[in-house]
Amino acid sequence: MLLHIADVLDAEQIRHLRAALDEADWIDGRETVGAQGARVKRNQQLPDASPVRRQLGDLVVAALARHPMYHAATLPHRTLPPRFNRYEGGGHYGSHVDGAVMALPDGEQLRSDISCTLFLSDPDDYDGGELIISDLYGEHEVKLAAGDLIVYPSSSLHRVQPVTRGARLAAFFWVQSLIRDDNQRRLLFELDTSIQCLTQSGADADAVLQLTGVYHNLLRQWAQT
Ligand code: NI
Repeated sequence: MLLHIADVLDAEQIRHLRAALDEADWIDGRETVGAQGARVKRNQQLPDASPVRRQLGDLVVAALARHPMYHAATLPHRTLPPRFNRYEGGGHYGSHVDGAVMALPDGEQLRSDISCTLFLSDPDDYDGGELIISDLYGEHEVKLAAGDLIVYPSSSLHRVQPVTRGARLAAFFWVQSLIRDDNQRRLLFELDTSIQCLTQSGADADAVLQLTGVYHNLLRQWAQT
């Protein structure tokens, strides 16, 4: 499921993040990928051990935790602390698939089910930099307002187009979902959304309760913890 989640960060949070990123020390993004990624990746990242990365990452995670649509769509089990990247001067990232298993800071491992990109630059401030995601239905071009998030299956082939003017800042991270299967996760998201609509429209309370029971019983059948 490819889903655009608007307004994860507000204008003040974006200003704070961008100011901190302007001051930060960046490294070559190829330091954090394997051989396949290194051949096609041309960007900059904050070092994994950077305190700025940890502090800004915590801010992003806290904002996500307050966003009900993010939670409903991803049903997160484990989340890799966000990283930050910058593309400028022709920087790009050619077609690739994300690694399937990643190490968490606590030594545990994360299976990447969902890839997330949180846009931090105003789209008018740079040319290019579109995230292109391929799935069964073709290619999808994504370039969102600052503060907006795109979530998509980690299994999809994707790339970032060259940035030919200005700079594109973003946070990115991966989620291991309670629901491994993308189709099952989409069904639960649609059911959840529908239950919220019925509740707000004052639908029959017993029927809504029954549907809520169906939601939780499907989640119980499918969840992997
Ligand atoms: Ni990627």
